[in-house]
Amino acid sequence: MITPVIMAGGSGSRLWPLSRQLRPKQFLPLTGEGSMLQETLKRLAPLEHRAPLLICNEEHRFLVAEQVRQQGISDARILLEPEGRNTAPAIALAALQAVEEDPEALLLVLAADHLIRDVAQFHEGVGHARQLAEQGQLVTFGVVPTHAETGYGYIQRGEGQGDVGFRVKRFVEKPDQVTAEDYLATGDYYWNSGMFLFSAKRYLEELERFQPAMVEACRAALAGASEDLDFTRLDAEAFRACPADSVDYAVMERTEHASVVPLDAGWSDIGSWSALWEVSERDGQGNACHGDVMLHDSHNLLVHADHRLVATVGVEDLVVVETKDAVLVARKDRVQEVKQIVSRLKAEG
Ligand code: GDD
Ligand code: MG
Repeated sequence: MITPVIMAGGSGSRLWPLSRQLRPKQFLPLTGEGSMLQETLKRLAPLEHRAPLLICNEEHRFLVAEQVRQQGISDARILLEPEGRNTAPAIALAALQAVEEDPEALLLVLAADHLIRDVAQFHEGVGHARQLAEQGQLVTFGVVPTHAETGYGYIQRGEGQGDVGFRVKRFVEKPDQVTAEDYLATGDYYWNSGMFLFSAKRYLEELERFQPAMVEACRAALAGASEDLDFTRLDAEAFRACPADSVDYAVMERTEHASVVPLDAGWSDIGSWSALWEVSERDGQGNACHGDVMLHDSHNLLVHADHRLVATVGVEDLVVVETKDAVLVARKDRVQEVKQIVSRLKAEG
C-alpha cells in the first residue's frame, strides 16, 4: 500500500504579503474551500493508502494538526523539523520511517501547495507511476510545458515504458532562461511537477550513494526524536547538522533509475501571483477579485482585499494585494521579484 508523504515546510515567499512566516501559502485557502494542504489531503480520498506522513516546520505544528483534524483524519503522523533542510532530507526522514513499518513501502511524495483540477487524471497517473515504482523506478510526474519557466525542473523523455511512461533521459533542475527556451523548442521535455512515487528503499539507496551524510544525519535525527501527541519532534542538533539540498538536485538529476509519467490534470504550483491569476475565475475584463473590490475601466488585474475596500481606475495587468499590515502593488509580469521584497524585509528585521 502507498504511504502519502506531504512536504509542508516551504515558505511561499513569492505570495507575500498574504503568505507570511507564521502562515505560509500551503496553509491558506488560495484555490479551494480548504487550505492548499487540506485540498492536497482531500485529493487522496480515492486512493487506498496508509496513514499520511506530513513533514513541516516545528513552528507550524498546531496549524498543521488543526488543518489535518478538520479533514477528519485521525491517523496522520507529523514530523517536525527544527529548521528546513529542503526536500531531500524531508523525504529521507519519511522514507526511513516508512521502511521501518514495511521494507517495501511505496511513497507518494506530494507538495502541500499545488493545485490539481482533475483528480481522476491524477489518480490514473498515480496508477501508472505505481507500476514503474514497483520495478524500482523513481517516478516523477511530468507536465507539458507552456512557457520557458525557470523555476521548474525539466525532464527529457527517453525510451517508452509500456504505455504508462518514459525513462528519464535527462533531468535539469531550474535551468536558465535560454536553456529553458531551448528545451521548450525541442518538444521532448516535461516540467517536473515536484510530485514523486518511489519505493522508500530505492530512494534511500540512491541518496546513500549521492549524499551519504544526509542519510546519516536523518537517521540520527530520528534516533534521538521524541514523540509528543501526534508529533515526532526530531533531535534538533542532529538535524541541524544535516546538509541541505532538494530532491531534484540531490537525487533526480543524478540517478539512473528515473522515469516520468505524463500528467495532464490541470496542475499548477501557484508559484506566484500571476500563476494564481491564471487559475482564478475572472470577470469579462479579465479581473480576478477577492474581497471588497471596486474596479473602473481596469483590466487583467488580480485584486485581493482582506480588510479594506480596494478600488482601481484605468489600470491593467497589475496585482494588488491588501492585508492588515501590508499592501503590494506589482506589475503582473514582474511578480517573481516579490521575493526580493521579502529578502529585504528579513534583512532589515
Ligand atoms: N518539510 C519540508 N522541509 N518541506 C519543504 C522544505 C523543507 O525544508 N522545503 C520545501 N518544502 C516543501 C514546500 O512546502 C513545497 O510543498 C515542496 O516542498 C517543494 O518545495 P519548493 O520550495 O516549493 O520547490 P520549488 O517549487 O522551488 O521546486 C520544486 O517544485 C517544482 C514544481 O512546483 C522542484 O521539484 C521543481 O523541479 C519543480 O518543477
Ligand atoms: Mg514550489
